[in-house]
Amino acid sequence: MAQNLLAGKRGIITGALDENSIAWKVAQKAVQQGAQITLTNAPVAMRMGAINRLAEECNTIVIPADATSLTDLENLYTKSMDHLGGKIDFVLHSIGMSVNVRKGRPYTDLDYGFLEKTYDVSAISFHKMAQTAFKLDAINEWGSILGLTYIAAQRIFPDYGDMADAKSLLESMARGWGYHYGKKAKVRVNTISQSPTKTTAGSGVGGFDAFFNYADTMSPLGNASAEDCANYCIFMFSDLSRMITMQNLFHDGGFSNMGIAPEIVTQFKDKE
Ligand code: NAI
Repeated sequence: MAQNLLAGKRGIITGALDENSIAWKVAQKAVQQGAQITLTNAPVAMRMGAINRLAEECNTIVIPADATSLTDLENLYTKSMDHLGGKIDFVLHSIGMSVNVRKGRPYTDLDYGFLEKTYDVSAISFHKMAQTAFKLDAINEWGSILGLTYIAAQRIFPDYGDMADAKSLLESMARGWGYHYGKKAKVRVNTISQSPTKTTAGSGVGGFDAFFNYADTMSPLGNASAEDCANYCIFMFSDLSRMITMQNLFHDGGFSNMGIAPEIVTQFKDKE
């Protein structure tokens, strides 16, 4: 693999909860590729402690921040710039949570208080991260902001519940920021639409294993792993992708362009 793709760059990685988290792998690879990073997560998630191990491995600090709090986000950027010695080049938003999904509330019986929380944590926090950076002028020219999303933003996956709407909002906000931040400082803003991945957030979706196996069978390349997703993130943070912005980029082994797979049809043959 190419080396030092991120040499001299400074980044902020959100969302590393444990070694299964996509963000965990992004952090490791960013450092391997020569970047200096800071890590952050919600104070409540940090109580689990695993992130401190990652910080040690990445030779960095953890700055607690609830991504829905503007005060916390301002502190995150200020402390990161202070610790890393300058403005930021890349930001990973790897945050998602729905109380409705967690509590098994179907799309037809949402709790609207929970729904607001879903939007705030999973989508509006992306806007807040971008807006805080914009106001602080915290990101260098040609910097890259990435969010992680799922194809339920475009197609119906009934068990994904209100997270589908949150992902639509997230992708739309990424386009909005791609315009505004691009004009201001040539900062690129994109989302990566990732295959189902066995993480804490992923496994929270009802029937996840069946869902995972179905996508794996439908995709000519199979599901993209967290490791592959991290590689794509590194490319998107690097100068190799400098003219890519305002895009929702499918990283799914081909799933998004499939109609049907013979392996799935076979399962219905005996019903003819
Ligand atoms: P994960 O559970 O490891 O990561 C989710 C993170 O969000 C956790 O670290 C959690 O502490 C953090 N978080 C929750 N509320 C927060 C808050 N208020 N402030 C700051 N952080 C908060 O799971 P995973 O899968 O690595 O999720 C990362 C991203 O990838 C999410 O946006 C998820 O929706 C997205 N994604 C995941 C897929 C999957 O199948 N696992 C598929 C497609 C996208």
